[in-house]
Amino acid sequence: MQISPSILSADFANLERELERVANADWAHVDVMDGHFVPNLTIGLPVVEALVKVSPIPLDAHLMIEDPDRWAPMYAEAGCQSVTFHIEAAHEPRALSRALRAAGARAGMAVKPRTDFAPYAELLPELDMVLVMTVEPGFGGQSFMADQMPKVRQVREAVRRHGGEIWIQVDGGVSADTIEQCAEAGADVFVAGSAVYGAEDAAAAVDELRALVTSHAH
Ligand code: DX5
Ligand code: ZN
Repeated sequence: MQISPSILSADFANLERELERVANADWAHVDVMDGHFVPNLTIGLPVVEALVKVSPIPLDAHLMIEDPDRWAPMYAEAGCQSVTFHIEAAHEPRALSRALRAAGARAGMAVKPRTDFAPYAELLPELDMVLVMTVEPGFGGQSFMADQMPKVRQVREAVRRHGGEIWIQVDGGVSADTIEQCAEAGADVFVAGSAVYGAEDAAAAVDELRALVTSHAH
């Protein structure tokens, strides 16, 4: 069970210090938004390259961008140890996943709340993680969509049938109130932005979230 705090809710003027605050987490989740795939704009490759150099923990890049086929491998080459693209934006997801792995990253595929997983189950052999969004991507601090839990169960079942070590990540509205139902449905990597960076002691919030799900290990 792994916790990946989203720096979207961190102080963008002090990102190195903000990463140090969550050094006890498993990953640092970096939300890349291009103002096209989602109606928000955050950071891109030059900033991510700088973060890789100073981060005490590996980076988990979540690319909410058009044309990930072109751009995503560069995030792997920059040193992000996990790179997740949105299936809604990918042209050749199989080739893209292979390119991510060839560049040394874990390959992740994200699905938006209104995107079904079933048509993409055949991609599992190419993937190291499936991200089930529990909010519409674009902004931090939105309400958790419990209606995505059946999809998490469905992905868990497909992963079980397939075998191998494929992680299931949830992202959006994950907090002490909602994390247990995610774990119970089958998630094992938990992104939390406002629940971690909104806390006075971010590291304690990470530990608290992890403690809530440890007993649910899959
Ligand atoms: C939303 C981002 C999330 C966001 C989560 O599009 O992908 O990673 O930072 O923030 P919270 O945990 O506040 O919902
Ligand atoms: Zn995210």
